[in-house]
Amino acid sequence: MPFDTLLTNRKVIIMLEYRDLPHEHSWPLLGDLPGFSRDPLGFLTRLHAEHGPVARLQVGPIKGVSINDPELIHQILTKQHDSVRKSIDTRWLSSVLGDGLVTSEGEFWKRHRKVLQPAFHNTKIRIYAEIMDQLTKQLLDQWRPGVEIDIHEQMSQLTLRVVAEALFGVDVSKYYEEIATPLDIVMGRFEELLTSMVPIPPMVPTPANRRAAKAVKRLDRALEEIIRDRRQLPEGDDLLSELLRAEPDVRFNDQELRDELLTLLVAGHETTALALTWALMLVAQHPEVATRLVAESRQHGDVVRTTKELPYHEHVINEAMRLYPPVWGIGRELIRDADIGGYHFTRGTQIFFCQWVTHRDAKYFERPATFDPDRWEEPKHPRHAFFPFGAGPRVCVGLNFAMLEAVVILRRVTEAFDLELAKDQAIDLMPAVTLRPRHGLRVTPRKRVQEQAA
Ligand code: HEM
Repeated sequence: MPFDTLLTNRKVIIMLEYRDLPHEHSWPLLGDLPGFSRDPLGFLTRLHAEHGPVARLQVGPIKGVSINDPELIHQILTKQHDSVRKSIDTRWLSSVLGDGLVTSEGEFWKRHRKVLQPAFHNTKIRIYAEIMDQLTKQLLDQWRPGVEIDIHEQMSQLTLRVVAEALFGVDVSKYYEEIATPLDIVMGRFEELLTSMVPIPPMVPTPANRRAAKAVKRLDRALEEIIRDRRQLPEGDDLLSELLRAEPDVRFNDQELRDELLTLLVAGHETTALALTWALMLVAQHPEVATRLVAESRQHGDVVRTTKELPYHEHVINEAMRLYPPVWGIGRELIRDADIGGYHFTRGTQIFFCQWVTHRDAKYFERPATFDPDRWEEPKHPRHAFFPFGAGPRVCVGLNFAMLEAVVILRRVTEAFDLELAKDQAIDLMPAVTLRPRHGLRVTPRKRVQEQAA
């Protein structure tokens, strides 16, 4: 085999190439697409179990590699972050999000991150705690004991209101349908794109793409109304007010403002709603965990302002995100040749990291399929074996916001209600950009009985 060899300090390092990567039996032209499109999570889990943490993932003509090793995740996302950009599928997202923080690159991204980052500083997040708590209580007041609800839909409404009120200073409850419905269409389209045998990029005007484009127009209209509402209200110290009154030389133009606001709305509510949906499902399945949550909550005063005040709640959220990562995979593309894990990869190679796979690897987590919040008391896993928020300079800007929000909402829901999962539902996972319950998640809230708390 024609190995490339390098001579370093008199040691010969054998550098393997793309064609040497371990791989599944794959199809001519289609590569791994048939297996991957049938069941992305199952396919990647098998690939990892049978071929190890660095394996070939060839999706049609796209040359990709699946990497699920904490050291290599750290190497690529942090140490060598300037050798990569977002992957081709992430770039498809820009047909919806434009050049917002999730999709932009280079100096443009750096400048925008610097402008937006202060809104997520810990001192600000403490102020948002009040909004998170209030809006949760308002929602819970509307729940009727014994009346079934879709907890995913409820959490999405709530987290959308929280992000809009905290960051934009506006009440968006009247726009919920105008945001949720088109967002569902767009997410469904991304799942199709990711798993279809012939992925037709969003810019080609097929009927499905035209439907998605229409949905984006609806999102745009909702956004215009949100900005109009904000302009009519007295100025506040929310992020949107600050952006609108910025000095002309640093002010975002209309397109930049649209892209960043939509990105924050979408990235900021869908993911946290999912973290909560899965956490509440797991708590419903483990009543002993609910009892401990209630006991911890009752030892505290009213509003909590940091997650450290409710450590068991934080463990439950972490453990839920380990098992059901709201963002189940992230991708990068090499912009220059690089040596990774003993292989030499050429520029243009797509790298795919899968939280679903790494978070469930028995090498890093004992009894990986078991929901065990106590494993977070003294975590034993390597740092990047758990990366629900990504890593390196492109790590989630809303990490602290999301963690506090999830803890506050989990606390209020569990304190007030015992959730009973509908027995006649199959929970079908939908791995689109995020990991959603395909048909929602139906639960019946029952008033929590005081004595239940330990
Ligand atoms: C549990 C909730 C959340 C999860 C699991 C999550 C996950 C992630 C992940 C994995 C990334 C990195 C993607 C990549 O490297 O390609 C990311 C980026 C991002 N997230 Fe989150 N996120 C959450 C909540 C939020 C919230 C609350 C906001 C804002 C209010 C937000 C805004 C963003 C933005 C703007 C980026 C792009 C950051 C950049 O590239 O500079 N996220 N998120």
